[in-house]
Amino acid sequence: MGVTLILSLPAVVIALVVGIFALKRQSGDRRNLPPGCFGWPVVGESLSFLFGKPEKFVCDRMKKYSPHIFKTKILGEKTAVICGPDGHKFLFSNDQKIFTAFRPHSMQKLFRSYQTSASAQIPREAESKLLKSPGFLKPEALVRYLGKMDYITQQQIQTYWEGKVQVKAFPLAKILTLSLACRFFVGTDEPERISRLINYFDDITIGLHSIPLNFPGTNFYRANKSAAAIRKELRTIIKEKKAAMTSGAPMLDILSNMIVATDTSGKHMPEMEIADKIMGLLVAGYSTVATAMTFFMKYVGERPDIYSKILAEHMEISESKKDGELLDWNDIQKMKYSWNVLCEVMRLTPPLQGTFREALSDFTYAGYTIPKGWKVYWTVNTTNKNPEYFPDPEMFKPSRYEDDKVFPPFTFVPFGGGPRMCPGKEYARLAILTFVHNVVKRFKWEIVCPEEKIIGDMMPTPEKGLPVRISSH
Ligand code: HEM
Repeated sequence: MGVTLILSLPAVVIALVVGIFALKRQSGDRRNLPPGCFGWPVVGESLSFLFGKPEKFVCDRMKKYSPHIFKTKILGEKTAVICGPDGHKFLFSNDQKIFTAFRPHSMQKLFRSYQTSASAQIPREAESKLLKSPGFLKPEALVRYLGKMDYITQQQIQTYWEGKVQVKAFPLAKILTLSLACRFFVGTDEPERISRLINYFDDITIGLHSIPLNFPGTNFYRANKSAAAIRKELRTIIKEKKAAMTSGAPMLDILSNMIVATDTSGKHMPEMEIADKIMGLLVAGYSTVATAMTFFMKYVGERPDIYSKILAEHMEISESKKDGELLDWNDIQKMKYSWNVLCEVMRLTPPLQGTFREALSDFTYAGYTIPKGWKVYWTVNTTNKNPEYFPDPEMFKPSRYEDDKVFPPFTFVPFGGGPRMCPGKEYARLAILTFVHNVVKRFKWEIVCPEEKIIGDMMPTPEKGLPVRISSH
């Protein structure tokens, strides 16, 4: 009898454990989770998310499960993808109430070298506040950059474009955007340093959305190595900057501001932390802006009618200025048609697909429960090509922005919305419009390979760098 009891004890324990799991599953089911599929064990649906077309990933699932919300497992996280203008509105209006920011593990690992794994979980509020607080990216401050932005753009066009028959738009746009970012964020304008950094930044951009497997041959491994190289370079720059500041050099860039900033207890930020933050800012402001410039060249290169209208706008601005006078704020306000063109560029080829949040508590959306701790993803792809909001969605049609009441709010959100809306939006607008002004004023262009493939699913990239044949007016 005693022996039987001892022998059956493990069976009872197993039965109890199985029972508890079954009960837990049942109670999980009762929560009415959104429809969808978690995919394969461990990887979930990450492979189709990262390596299929991002637009296809969401549109297929919106059709299959629900146009409002679906569940998936991507980048190691149970995720609810919240869709459509109502979804965008809900997410942007509930930041810090229901949601907090979340970055995929690959990004956390690349940008948080200074933190222990425990402190890496701290929400990014302080970080985001710091980027916004010095006001460097606000229009008032940007007005002061504008002339210099124009000057740097002109210099680059002279060096890399003038006198050439054919150029590759994408690599040149990247040199320009990294030069601008290095100038205004870091206060450096040494071309050699910048070209040394460019490949590293490209590796990081690819590694941002990757499975964080750190062994040779993976995207994440390359991104990690490149992040280390950039940090090293930035720490050298920080030391140079500190030395220059003690001898009275002016503090006209974001880096100088971070060096002198103190927290509530009067402590300065450690150098590693400054390096990580500046790297984050450079990454955010580099490839997005270069992508918009490049696809402007592509779409406008295919449409001489649109090119002529842009040219007319810029010639009028040019004629109103004295010889050699640099662009000012009023000129930018006159570039209305060009901005409509750029909106259409970003609708068809969004420089950034979307971002993640984390649910701070259980919440209900469209009748479904999303448990606390799940990640929530929003993406421009759930609205950008919906014919209900954008008739003939595949057509390049800048005139659709002429009446901004035509499409409902939250359907066109290339820079996000709410408190987390891209802090670099105005900077990006100035940089891209300044580029447009200088390139259109000087050149006509034709696309060399009209069938060029667009690769890089999370970051759209023309496979051959978008070669264009240019000729002066
Ligand atoms: C065409 C260019 C750009 C596009 C389309 C773009 C788009 C976006 C989007 C969609 C977000 C996410 C907003 C959200 O999560 O709700 C974002 C965030 C961000 N962007 Fe941009 N961006 C661009 C340029 C820039 C530039 C030039 C900078 C730097 C000067 C920048 C810095 C940032 C930062 C720091 C964040 C994170 C904000 C936070 O989490 O609070 N971006 N951007």
